[in-house]
Amino acid sequence: MTQKTIFITGATDGIGLETAKLLAPNGHHLLIHGRNKSKLDKARSELSAMEGSGQIDIWEADFARPENAARLAEDINSAYETIDVLINNAGVYKTATPRTPDNYDLRFAVNLFAPVILTQKILPLIPKTGRVINLSSAAQSPVDIDALKGAAELGDMPAYAQSKLAFTIWTQAMAAAQAKGPLFIAVNPGSLLNTNMVKQGWGGSDKDIGIGAKILVRAALDPAFEGRTGQYFDNDSGNFAPPHPDAANSAITQEIVTAINDTVQPYLS
Ligand SMILES: NC(=O)c1ccc[n+]([C@@H]2O[C@H](COP(=O)([O-])OP(=O)(O)OC[C@H]3O[C@@H](n4cnc5c(N)ncnc54)[C@H](OP(=O)(O)O)[C@@H]3O)[C@@H](O)[C@H]2O)c1
Repeated sequence: MTQKTIFITGATDGIGLETAKLLAPNGHHLLIHGRNKSKLDKARSELSAMEGSGQIDIWEADFARPENAARLAEDINSAYETIDVLINNAGVYKTATPRTPDNYDLRFAVNLFAPVILTQKILPLIPKTGRVINLSSAAQSPVDIDALKGAAELGDMPAYAQSKLAFTIWTQAMAAAQAKGPLFIAVNPGSLLNTNMVKQGWGGSDKDIGIGAKILVRAALDPAFEGRTGQYFDNDSGNFAPPHPDAANSAITQEIVTAINDTVQPYLS
C-alpha cells in the first residue's frame, strides 16, 4: 500500500483517534490534531507503538478560536510540502459555554469556521489527487444566518445541526470551485456511535466507534470514492445520498457560503 500523509483533526478521542488507529499499522505519516497536550502525547505513544506505524506528528490548537485554526494552518504550511488527505473531524455538540471569546456559537466555531480556515489555508499543500473529508451528520437543519454570524443564540441541537448542514453545503461549494481536485466529500460517519460526544449528549449508545472509523478510512483511501467530489456519504444507509434539501437550493446555498466566507475572511490573510 502506498503510504500517504494524512492529517486528522480531533484525533485525540472518538472516531478521529479510532481512524488513526486503523491507519497507523499501514505506515502512513499521520498528523494528529487535538486541543489537549496530554491527550495528544498519549495518542502519539499509542499510535507509535503499533506494529508497522510510520511517522506520527502531533499538533495542538483549540478550534474555539478561528485565529488558532489560522495559526495551525500557517505552522502546517511551514512544516510540510504535501498533505494527501485532510480529515476535518474535530467537532462539538453539547457545551456549558456556548459563546466563544469572539462571540460565535462554539458549534459554528469548531465544526465550521475552524475547518474552513484550515482547509483554505493549507489547500496549496493538497495535491489535485488528494482528498478533503468533512464530517457531517444525519443531524442537518436549515441554517439561521444570524446565528451562524453570532448574532442570535441557539440550543445545542439546532446549533450542531445547523453547523453540519452549513459544512456540508460548503463542501459542495468547494468541490465545485476545485473541479480539478482535490476531492471534497462530506461524510455522516453513522448516527449515535458511542463516543464522548454521544455519551454527553445522549447518555451513550451500543453502536461501535469503529463503524465511523472504517468509513473515514474508506473515504480517505478507497478508489471507490473517486469521482464523488461534492457528494455526501450517509453511513447510516451505507451509500451516497442527498443531504438536507436546502443543499440543493441555490439561493440558500449561496447565502450560506457567502456568510461563511465573510466570517472567515479576516482569518485567511
Ligand atoms: N459519534 C457520532 O455518532 C457522530 C455522528 C455524526 C457525526 N459525528 C461527527 O464525528 C466527529 C467526531 O466526533 P466524535 O463522536 O468522535 O466525538 P468526540 O469523541 O467527542 O471527539 C471529538 C474530537 O474533537 C476534538 N475537539 C472538540 N472540541 C474541540 C476544540 N474546541 N478544539 C479542537 N478540538 C476539539 C476532541 O478533543 P478532546 O479529545 O480534547 O475532547 C476530540 O478529539 C464530529 O465532527 C462529530 O460531529 C459523530
